[in-house]
Order: sequence, then structure tokens, then C-alpha cells
Amino acid sequence: MNKSLLSASLVALALAAPLAHAHEAGDIILRAGAITVNPKADSSSVKVDQGPLAGTDLGGKATMDSDTQLGLNFAYMLTNNWGIELLAATPFEHDVKLKGTALPAANGKLGSLKHLPPTLSVVYYPLDSKSAFQPYVGAGINYTWIYDESLSSEAKSAGFSNFKAKNSWGLAWQVGADYMLTEHVMLNAQVRYIDIDTRATVENNSIAPGTRAKVNVDVDPFVYMVGLGYKF
Ligand code: NI
Repeated sequence: MNKSLLSASLVALALAAPLAHAHEAGDIILRAGAITVNPKADSSSVKVDQGPLAGTDLGGKATMDSDTQLGLNFAYMLTNNWGIELLAATPFEHDVKLKGTALPAANGKLGSLKHLPPTLSVVYYPLDSKSAFQPYVGAGINYTWIYDESLSSEAKSAGFSNFKAKNSWGLAWQVGADYMLTEHVMLNAQVRYIDIDTRATVENNSIAPGTRAKVNVDVDPFVYMVGLGYKF
């Protein structure tokens, strides 16, 4: 076979080959993009749980703002339709505010905290066609590691100390879609709902020695990510 015939055959073969769009068993998919955690932050009222005033309900509630970071997905296709996926991200940071408590000095920005919410999910891709569009649904387990809780300068000058929030285990649900731009590169968009519940505590010895207040927060965020993926 001469060279031009060979290259013509290769071109013909390439054109005839079906576009391998569908995700297939053994595929490794890496996605990266902007990820936003938007907490619902339904909270209990703020209660004094330690010290001479223990049992006092200060009323009010806690709120958290949203934050956007770099999100990563590591996915592996177990079959042509089922995969497992790990969500990772650079650390999120949220401001924590108290509103409407009976203690005016406590209202306002209490401080901030950081967290990492790794989530391991089972994901189902219903389309087994050669469709370039690959929607999916998933469910999994989230562990949210909360760290670096720090008080605002206002809260410190109002006598607050030792701000802490508990880590959380919970379920996570997601819907998303990949759109294959080439055989390897995809666009991705996804939405998750993650059940994250924490209990925050803060001390204030200037009110009375040993005084600690607690608030239970259903952080329960919607998590949005858009980005690009690469299939190996
Ligand atoms: Ni919850």
C-alpha cells in the first residue's frame, strides 16, 4: 500500500468510526470548575447551655453567607451507566452572623469558619446512546470538616471567646449533565443538595464566668458547579 492510499484509508476509517460519546465502563472523568456553596442555614434560637445562666433562651438565629471556590470531581465508570464520584474543592469560608438575639452585643458578625465537604456518590447515567449529552443523577455521603473558626474583632471586644462548630456527616443528592465537545473534553453543570448540620458554641466570660451559648444550624446548602471535564 502506498503512502497516500494509507492516509486515505486512515481518514476513511476515522470518518467511519462512531464518535465514542457515551461514558463507558473503565472511563476516568476529571472535572474542574467554579463551585458555589449557598447555605440555607435554618437555625435554632441561641441558647445558653453552660454557666450560671444555663437554660436561658436568647432567641434569634444564626446565618451564613455563600462562598465560591475551585471544585473538582474525580469519577470512575463501573459500568456503562453506573459510576462513583468524589467531590473535592479548595476550602470554603463563610461568615457567621447572629440576628435578633436578646443580647444586643451578640448580634452582627460573630466570626467566620472554613470547611471542606468531601462527598462520595454513586452516579447513574441513563443514556446509553452515542448521545453527546449525558445527564446523570447521584446520591452519596458527605463529610464536612469544619475548621479555623475565628471570631470577628467586634465579637472579641464584646467578650466572646472559643468559637467552635462541629463536623457533620450527611446524605447528598445531585443532578448534573456532561456535554461532550470532543471525544475527551466535556462541558459540565451540576446541582447538589447536601445535608450538613452543625452545632456552634461560643463562650463569654464577661457576661458571667463559664457562660457558653450554643446554636444548632441546618446548613443544608445547595451547591452549584459549572466547569469543564476530561475523560481519560
Ligand atoms: Ni439538615
